[in-house]
Amino acid sequence: MKNVTTQVAIVGAGPAGMILALLLQMRGIDCVVLERRARVDVLARIRAGVLEPAAVQFLRESGLVTRLDLLGRPRNGSRIAWQDRPGLMIDVKRWTGTEMMAYGQTFLTEDLYAQGDGLGLSLFERVTDLDVTGLEGVRPQVEFRTPDGAFHLNCDYVIGCDGARGQCAGLIPEANRRTYERVYPFGWLGIMVEAPPVDDFTYIHHVDGFALAAQRGPNLSRYYVQTPLDEGVEAWPDDRFWKTFLHRAPSDLAAQVVTGPSIEKSLAPLRSRVIEPMRWGRLLLAGDAAHVVPPTGAKGLNLAISDARLLSRALIAYYGEGRSDLLDSYSADALRRVWVASNLSWRLTRLLHVFPGEPSIDARLRQCDYEQLLESDDLQRALARDYAGISLSG
Ligand code: APR
Ligand code: PHB
Repeated sequence: MKNVTTQVAIVGAGPAGMILALLLQMRGIDCVVLERRARVDVLARIRAGVLEPAAVQFLRESGLVTRLDLLGRPRNGSRIAWQDRPGLMIDVKRWTGTEMMAYGQTFLTEDLYAQGDGLGLSLFERVTDLDVTGLEGVRPQVEFRTPDGAFHLNCDYVIGCDGARGQCAGLIPEANRRTYERVYPFGWLGIMVEAPPVDDFTYIHHVDGFALAAQRGPNLSRYYVQTPLDEGVEAWPDDRFWKTFLHRAPSDLAAQVVTGPSIEKSLAPLRSRVIEPMRWGRLLLAGDAAHVVPPTGAKGLNLAISDARLLSRALIAYYGEGRSDLLDSYSADALRRVWVASNLSWRLTRLLHVFPGEPSIDARLRQCDYEQLLESDDLQRALARDYAGISLSG
């Protein structure tokens, strides 16, 4: 078994783990990243691509991404389209004076891996048999295997950035951990299409279900429809997808859509989950490892970025100035933003989707919610602030 010593061991090389690792490495804090998958698999993942103003500002200032201005597209906000009712702009620019940005998570992951190469980041890929011990002491131990052999890692802190299906959250003893969870009775089927996108990200509500038109680039579009949980991707050939999408979209939007063969198709069940606390002993959690939001609102990536930012500050203060106050407050600081984003994601999901088997009153209440929103500048401002995630930007 080969021995490795480091200051911070980071499990998971998604956005949370990579951003944290790079921020630490840039400040001379020694870290090692352990990733279960091969790089090509991580880079092939397709996820939401909407950055909040605070995330854009942070990514710019950090120097972590090089292509934001080349490939990113500033957005004033996103639209809601509603069957038989006027549409509505979630007008982030108007109500907050800031801009969102469309920047695919795939672009971001490529940027982060390129930076990691440039900085000589120590990244172990294809990690299996991960075993973490000693989290209650001062020197946690991590054992793992890669195709190159078995390793024993000594560190000061273990950071669980291993995503929604990772194992780090489970290292917090059950008696010390609380999980809050909702599993939604539907999923999103998403397709990628090599065709120009519609003008705005548009969330669509229709009596038959939700749909979304999203953008990736000048000739790359992403579309989604709400689907029942008992149907797999194979039940959704392209012609069924387009028929469903175009039926749910209002006619002016449908007229803008350039259809075409899908180059990727995937199904995502929707779930909300928050694990508290985000720290236990020498273990700290960040990103999807600690919280999962439904994609309505596109908060997952933004939360991963804000956790990584908070945690990097805390670790830099610890190693640079011997201060542990920011590590002590990390969980509470991160969770404030997590709950606001979880709440926004839940409210938008409930507003825009049709829940199978729901009592008939729910459709009328949803309609009432939307009409109140249409009529009230105050409600629109509040929605835009939460959508932009700026109420807790600090
Ligand atoms: N050992 C090592 N790596 C692991 C393990 C493990 N036991 N389990 C999971 N991983 C890796 C996964 O392969 C993945 O690359 O952890 C990484 C977690 O990355 P993400 O799932 O992207 O999570 P996170 O970095 O928190 O980013 C959250 O990105 O993927 C989206 O929808 C997600 O938008 C959200 C945001
Ligand atoms: C996407 O770009 O895929 C996307 C955008 C907004 C969302 C979810 C997904 O709310």
